[in-house]
Amino acid sequence: MIYHFKEVPIFYEVTGKGPVMVLLHGFLESSTMWKAIAPPLTKHFTVITIDLPGHGKSGVLSETHSMELMAQLLFSMLHHLKIETATLVGHSMGGYVALAFTELYQQHTAGLILLNSTTYKDNDNRKKNRDRALRYIKTQKDSIISMAISNLFTEKSRLQYASEIEQLKLEALSFPLKGITAAIKGMRDRKDRTQVLQNFQKKKWIICGDKDPIVPLEDSTRISEVTHTPIKILRSSHMSWMENTDKIVKILHFNE
Ligand code: MLT
Repeated sequence: MIYHFKEVPIFYEVTGKGPVMVLLHGFLESSTMWKAIAPPLTKHFTVITIDLPGHGKSGVLSETHSMELMAQLLFSMLHHLKIETATLVGHSMGGYVALAFTELYQQHTAGLILLNSTTYKDNDNRKKNRDRALRYIKTQKDSIISMAISNLFTEKSRLQYASEIEQLKLEALSFPLKGITAAIKGMRDRKDRTQVLQNFQKKKWIICGDKDPIVPLEDSTRISEVTHTPIKILRSSHMSWMENTDKIVKILHFNE
């Protein structure tokens, strides 16, 4: 299905029955990342997957896809679908969007699950890396994408998931350059939302990987402590959805 936000086509799918759960993918991913996780959830939930702007089959909205802008898009789409409240599950950048949504529209978030994501803003080093990527991506799109995706995995998981990684790279290479740079700028400029998670009093979880090279385990455990959010630590890299599919499905049913 296509929803038009500011006249830009946004791809989404709705399946299943029950309370609404929105699955938000991360940077250089698309709704296809949920293809093994979404189907078992549809027995208990109305599952909505979306291609965030500049990713998958969705168009580009702006020079910068701020987390607030993507949250506004999601709110507008849910309103269009006459959905009042939804549990948001966000992988990495999708988690940043879920936090921005919760900050703006708290009463519309029924639950909040951060999957390999963080409430922290970028530190100086990370901001520098984003700026470097922005400088080089115009002339070296393929190698920057390839490196960015490889960096989400540990050395060991890179070998184990070699063909899946190739698939991810192939898909990401088809995303427009403007969409990729808009997301990089949005992530670089995002603010800290630890307080948002702390203030959120409904169902919430942090699901993290013990070897996540992007979101260090120490950050996840610290955020869990200060925000009083239960944590599930999986044996995985940044891509737990690929490495721990069944466990994640179980956790999302809130029965583990
Ligand atoms: C993601 O997986 O969405 C990104 O790696 C997140 C980030 O770079 O901060």
